[in-house]
Parts: sequence; C-alpha cells; structure tokens
Amino acid sequence: MICRILMLGLFSSALGRHLQEGTGSPRARRQPGDAEGRHSPERRELTRSSAGVNEETCTALRGVEAALQNSTSTFTFKVRSMGSLSLAWVGDRSGVVLMLTTFQVPLFLMRFGQSSLYRSEDYGKTFQDVTHLINHTFIQSEFGIAISPDHSGKVILTADVSGFGGFRLFRSRDFGLTFEPTDLPFEPLIQMLYNPGDCNTLLTLSLTLDLWLSEDFGATWRKIHNSVCLVRWGPRNSIYFTTNNNGSCNDKGMLDLKKTVDYGKTIHTVASRVYSFVLGGKFLFSSIMTGMGSERVVHVSVDGGEHWNIAQLPAVNHQQFYYILAANQDMIFIHVDDPGDTGVGTIYVSDDRGTVFSKSLARHLYTTTGSDTDFTAISSLRGVYMTSILTEDGTVETVITYDQGAKWQPLRRPQNSDCDAATSTNRPNRCKLHIYASYSTAMKMNVPVLPLSQPNAVGLILAHGSVGDSESALAPDVYVSDDGGYSWLLALKGPHHYAILDSGGLLVAVEHTNSPINQIKFSTDEGQCWHLYNFTSDPLYFIAMDSEPGSRSMNVSLWGNRNDHTKWVVITVDFRKLLTRDCNEGDYQEWLAHSADPSGLNDGCAMGYKETFLRLRKDSMCWNGRDFAITKKQSPCPCSVADYHCDFGYYRPENSSECVEQEEMTGRPLEFCLNGTTEQLQTSGYRKIPGNQCEGGFQPERKETDLRRLCISDAHHPNPLTEKDSPKTAVIVMVVMAILLMSALAGVWLVKKYVCGGRFLVHRYSVMREQVEANKIEGVDDVDTSYMETEKTQFNDDSDQDLLE
Ligand SMILES: *[C@@H]1O[C@H](CO)[C@@H](O)[C@H](O)[C@H]1NC(C)=O
Ligand SMILES: *[C@@H]1O[C@H](CO)[C@@H](O)[C@H](O)[C@H]1NC(C)=O
Ligand SMILES: *[C@@H]1O[C@H](CO)[C@@H](O)[C@H](O)[C@H]1NC(C)=O
Ligand SMILES: *[C@@H]1O[C@H](CO)[C@@H](O)[C@H](O)[C@H]1NC(C)=O
Ligand SMILES: *[C@@H]1O[C@H](CO)[C@@H](O)[C@H](O)[C@H]1NC(C)=O
Ligand SMILES: *[C@@H]1O[C@H](CO)[C@@H](O)[C@H](O)[C@H]1NC(C)=O
Ligand SMILES: *[C@@H]1O[C@H](CO)[C@@H](O)[C@H](O)[C@H]1NC(C)=O
Repeated sequence: MICRILMLGLFSSALGRHLQEGTGSPRARRQPGDAEGRHSPERRELTRSSAGVNEETCTALRGVEAALQNSTSTFTFKVRSMGSLSLAWVGDRSGVVLMLTTFQVPLFLMRFGQSSLYRSEDYGKTFQDVTHLINHTFIQSEFGIAISPDHSGKVILTADVSGFGGFRLFRSRDFGLTFEPTDLPFEPLIQMLYNPGDCNTLLTLSLTLDLWLSEDFGATWRKIHNSVCLVRWGPRNSIYFTTNNNGSCNDKGMLDLKKTVDYGKTIHTVASRVYSFVLGGKFLFSSIMTGMGSERVVHVSVDGGEHWNIAQLPAVNHQQFYYILAANQDMIFIHVDDPGDTGVGTIYVSDDRGTVFSKSLARHLYTTTGSDTDFTAISSLRGVYMTSILTEDGTVETVITYDQGAKWQPLRRPQNSDCDAATSTNRPNRCKLHIYASYSTAMKMNVPVLPLSQPNAVGLILAHGSVGDSESALAPDVYVSDDGGYSWLLALKGPHHYAILDSGGLLVAVEHTNSPINQIKFSTDEGQCWHLYNFTSDPLYFIAMDSEPGSRSMNVSLWGNRNDHTKWVVITVDFRKLLTRDCNEGDYQEWLAHSADPSGLNDGCAMGYKETFLRLRKDSMCWNGRDFAITKKQSPCPCSVADYHCDFGYYRPENSSECVEQEEMTGRPLEFCLNGTTEQLQTSGYRKIPGNQCEGGFQPERKETDLRRLCISDAHHPNPLTEKDSPKTAVIVMVVMAILLMSALAGVWLVKKYVCGGRFLVHRYSVMREQVEANKIEGVDDVDTSYMETEKTQFNDDSDQDLLE
C-alpha cells in the first residue's frame, strides 16, 4: 500500500521550514473503512457553531463568515507541486516569507535540480516569483536557506552551480529583497552556521572536512582547520570542534576536542580521546575513552572545557547507552538504559554542576529500536516535563512532572472524556489520559503533530491523546490543558493540525484527513469552544499549516494543492477582523500558576516560589496584540520536601514524597573527584533542585567533605579509574548524545515523518516493537551523533545554538 509520506519540519525562524512530499503520490489516499475513515460519521454531526465536543456550553459566534471572508486570501503558484517546498520566515514582524521549491532528479543520475524562489511581504498572502534573483541555480532544500537568528534580515542561499563545478552563495542583508552572489572556494557539507553572538560571522564544513570561517557575512572565507568531524558555536564567540588527525571521523574515541575563542587564530585542545561532545545550557559534555579497552566515561565541564569532572552516574555495561534528554542553565536530564534489552531505562537529574546525578524516573520508555522518546519540555509553565513509561504489564503510560523531575505522576482523566471501553472496562480506576509525542510519530501512528506549548501562551498545552489504561492508537483526539498539564479537556475529536496565535488568545486547528478540506476550526477561549469557518469553496488537499514563529501572529496559512494536484496553493486567513477590539485591563484576571490545592498554605509553590500571572479571561473576545507581554508577580515559598531531588543513591518510591536509599548503595558514601581532589558526599537523601529559590523551612543536612586526597578527572589524562573501589564511576560504552531541546525560541520542531497510521488497537510495547522492526528503524548502534547529525540536527542545527543563550 502506498501511503503519503509527508516530511514536515518546522524550525525556528533561523531556519527554513520544509514541507516535502515524498515518494508517494499525493493521490494515494486512505481507503474507507480503516481507522481514520471510521471516525468520520461522528465528525459530520458537528454543528457549525462548535466544532468541538462541548456543544451544550458553547454559543455560536455570529458574523464569522462575513468578518473573515474579506480577510482570506488565496494564492496559487505557477510552479508545479512536485519535489519539496521550504518556507522561511525572515526577521520578526517583517511579514517576509521566502518560499523555495526544489525538484531534484534521483540521485543515481548526476546531481541536477531546479529551484524556484518566491517571496512574500504580507505574511504569506501574496508571493512574487523572484527566481531570477538566484539566477536559476539549484538550491538544496536540506540546507540551502540559512536565516540569521538575530532577526536582522540576513539570508544566505547556498546554490549548487551544477555543471559549472562549484557552489555559490546568494547573500542578502535586506530580508531577501536583493541578493549578492559570491562563489565559494569549497563545497559545503553542512548548513552555514551563524555565530549567535554576531551574525556576520559564519562557519561551515567542506566536503573534505575542512573548517571554514567567514567574518564578513560570507564574502571571504578562511580555512581554520582540517579533518574536522563536528563543529558547534559556543557562547561568547567560541567555537568547539572535534578533529581526527588521521583523517577519519569514524575513529570515534580517537578524536581531539578543540576550542578557539578568537576565530581560529589560536586553537587549543581541551580534551583528547574523545568520542563525541555536546553543548547544552551552561554545560559541555564529552564522552572520553578510559585507558582500558572500549570503555568511555562522560565528562562534564561548566567552564567551557578548562576543567572537567566525571559525571557520577551508575556504571553501565557495553550494551547499554546514555542519552541527554534536555539541558538548561541549571541542570540536565539524562536517560540511562537499563541492563538487558528491555526498551526502558532510568532518567537521572543532575546537580547544578552537572556532576552528581540522582534517580528521577524508572521504566522510562526509550527503546534501542525506536530512536525517539516522548520526553517533552512544556514551555508554557516552568518546571513541567512530560514523557512515557512502560509499565510492568507492557503498556505505555504518560507521566508528568511539575518540579523539574523531582516527582512524576500520571495525567488526570479529563472531565469531559470517557474511558476507551475496549481497553479499560474492567479497570475503571486505571482510566487516565495518555499523550502522544515523538515516540508515537516515530511508530507512524496517526498523530500529525507533536504536543505544542509556547512561552507567551501561559499554561496552554495542545496535544494528541487518548483516555484509557494505556495509549490506544485507534483514535487519538486533541486535548487541551490551560494550567500547564494539571487538568485536561477533550477539545477536538480525531487527529488535527493545530497552532497557537495571538499569544494564546486564539487557537486554530485543521482536521488531519486525506480528503480535501475547506474548514478551519478556531477557539477564542483556550480550546473549550470551537467555531468553524469555510475558508474556501474549492476544497484543498491540505499539507501543512504555518504561521509566523512566536505565536503572536493573527495570520495563519494553509498550504496544499487542489484536485489536479499540480499547483501549490496557499490560503491565508487573517483573524484580525474577527477580534477587532484591543484587550484592556478588564479582559485579564489573576491566575496562580501550579495551583493544585487552593486550600493549602503553600499552594502554587513550585521551584521555591509562587507566580501569579495576568491571563486573558476565557470569555473575552479581544486582541492581545503583537506587543503583548506577560505580567506576573512572584513571592517566595518556605522549603518543603517537594523542593528537593533525591540525592545520589536515593529515590522516591511511587506515590511517596520521601526519598529512600537505594539498597545497593547502603553504607557506601559517594566519593568523587572534583577539581582534582576527592570529595565525600554525606547526605540525608535530599538535594535542592537546581534553580530552586525556596527559603527557610525544610533544610536537610548535606555536606561535601574534601578528603584531601588527590585524584584525576581531567580529560587530558583520561585514566579516571584510579579509584578502583569506587563503584559509581560511570563507565560508558555507548553514548548517545543529542539534545531534544527546551528551546526558548518559538516553533522549534524536529523533522518528523508520518504516514498511514493507527493500525493497532492498544499501544502495547510488543506490538510497537514489531512495527519498528518491520520498518527497519536503525538500531541504537547507528543512533550515535553522526546519525543524529544527518537525520535530525542537519535540519535543525540551530536548536543546539539556541541552547547557548
Ligand atoms: C472587503 O474589502 C474591500 C476592500 O478590500 C472593501 O471595500 C469592502 O467594504 C470589504 N467588505 C466588507 C464586508 O468588509
Ligand atoms: C547567471 O548565470 C549565467 C550562467 O548560467 C552567467 O553567465 C551569468 O553571468 C549569471 N548572472 C548573474 C547575475 O550571476
Ligand atoms: C591511522 O589509522 C590507522 C587505522 O586506524 C592506523 O593503522 C594508522 O597507523 C594511523 N595513522 C596515523 C598517522 O596515525
Ligand atoms: C461549509 O462547508 C461544509 C462542507 O465542508 C458545508 O457542509 C457547509 O454548508 C458550508 N457552510 C457554509 C456556510 O457555506
Ligand atoms: C497579518 O498580515 C497583515 C498583512 O497581510 C499584516 O499587516 C498584519 O500585521 C498581520 N497581523 C499580525 C498580527 O501579524
Ligand atoms: C499510587 O497511587 C495510585 C492512586 O492513588 C494507586 O492506584 C497506585 O496503586 C499507587 N501505587 C503504589 C505503588 O502504591
Ligand atoms: C574548580 O576550579 C576552578 C579554577 O581552579 C574554579 O573556577 C571552579 O569554581 C572550581 N570548581 C569547583 C566546583 O570547585
């Protein structure tokens, strides 16, 4: 069966947005009677006034058609809808969108392709063909467009001048209005990397693995090193890269990690025998070979590689792996694979030095066969993360933490949603909400988009999910939370594409279906009531929804093609005519974040303080505006047990707030090497959560004593196992490092593929596993940084840069 493969990567404004139609013909539609088809009769009953599921309490909006009809624009491209399409927003509030279509002849022929470039100045309503600006050269869709992350309007297009033996840059400093051609003295291998601190400085690697730098926005280039395997910008104009003097980047574990802070004039080696490295938050991680065999350990530095310490994690054998899930300025989350081929591992959280780790969540789902985990940082409320665990009986369940991983719990069942009868008739108490994230999309379930939250839409989360005792693949619906994941509401039946506009004042959604559509759903009350608008009389095969990154826009574009499948069509709806009134003081009300128990004295305390936000009232129909700024008040909280992670060697049993000592650790105080001397940790089991600001109250004893014994944890002399009696030294044999980022920037999504999904009833691990194997998703041995590099970060290079702020 041929399925439509849609590759959709929405990136930060610093990168292009790619919409790509894969091998399948867009005509290949789902057959009636399969999972999705079965849902449609229900959807047809929806009334015009409410597209959601809470009809009784919702009232119809009047004059929707009249208001929106005049502000809906359709633009049909002359270019045929083949190949791939990339969208890139240039600048912030400029309204400039570049649209690049590329059509490439298959690889076994010579590299040959055609590109067309279009430019819009009105948020995608109309486009002008500006292909002549790139002189009809071929721009690679994967890394052809590089937009400067500082919103200054710089654009670089990398053109392949086929047949002329070279590459040419088209450089613009005026939001893509004019381009200056510059021939490159080398063939680029990766995307041009802007220095986040100075966007006139660029880095890239050549096909021959030379590292090239330009200090004048690409006009002239200087080679600063050869045999470079991986390069990243660090903070304050620093550059980190690994090199192999022997010329092979496959010799992992033999690389040198080098650093320069003066654009390559002086370069020094900060670590040797390096396997890989990653920059995240304030941390620099590197996995470094020990003196013995093929073992390696993770070293951490918080001063850019000047001083290294060994991460104190449990030892693992060579069949296990590590994966850094997230890093911020305070701490990191790391996944440690359990022994044996279980498909699960344990999440550990670090202290503020990244050195001493403690157990946060057991049975965390992250298989060696699927390379995705559901770990999701919720950007609309501090301290909130969601992920999935695999229970003892083999079902996948969603859990959430509100305090940076100190305590995890299942999601509550939405009030307006019944349990899926098929899965939980006999176990009503196990009826919970389960959220579908990366793991489900990697499993090719019928989930078109990942959970969505935005820093300026306080408390809001949109996500696909189902209610039952585990994930059920049959009918994911859209659920909304308006309080950062404490409570949830069934918002839309069936899978949808969704977006947040006007800082959360407006939500829009489009049904995910293979039939042509003509309706967009929108909500002005954070997803409780949904209204319909017919945006066209000539339905569209919908491909993607797009709006300006940052969720402040009122314009949303629907991309697709019509019945003849030949032309790209974009329909842009400007909702400004609907929300004509500017919001005033009376439209906002106070909201205490993290409030779960209004009667409690410490209600709302999270990470040591309470925060009260001014939020738009649900019944207010008004425009937050582009300049909407979050207004909040903070007050400190006394410390309680909830402000602490369990310390090294301790864990929280399920449903417990007390930390309990791990049996295997009893009577063995942790000794570790910090800055060259041995430290002993004396702990009563609690360690304050990094970044927590609580005052007074519960203050458990914790002490690190300098034993005045010298030790070595320096990356230049990698023989850290001199402390033979230390059972806690992390011996790392398989390190998988990649950062799934809690980016503060808007719209940073990873590339996802999705095809026909929803083929199994209950999302059980064994079934999913077969599915993975059937689809030949790479085993973990291939999922190292180089894999990440090609499959993910290549498209998403800037997300690493975002980490560095
Ligand atoms: C629609 O827009 C046109 C101009 O763009 C204007 O003349 C007309 O009055 C508008 N109609 C309505 C109903 O707003
Ligand atoms: C466009 O490309 C042609 C070769 O295909 C070249 O002769 C011409 O000079 C180029 N024009 C510009 C403005 O780069
Ligand atoms: C390069 O690597 C190969 C195999 O890894 C080794 O045999 C050779 O001696 C190395 N050469 C140098 C100059 O290190
Ligand atoms: C909107 O479109 C649907 C079909 O998709 C149709 O049933 C409905 O009548 C239309 N509504 C209006 C007001 O045109
Ligand atoms: C929507 O697009 C129009 C241009 O078509 C622009 O003037 C307006 O500012 C945009 N609205 C928002 C909120 O970005
Ligand atoms: C935790 O609490 C839930 C509900 O209160 C209960 O169903 C579950 O069995 C408890 N787990 C343990 C290990 O006690
Ligand atoms: C380690 O030493 C360096 C300089 O000697 C110092 O800046 C740093 O704070 C020390 N780190 C710790 C954790 O003591």
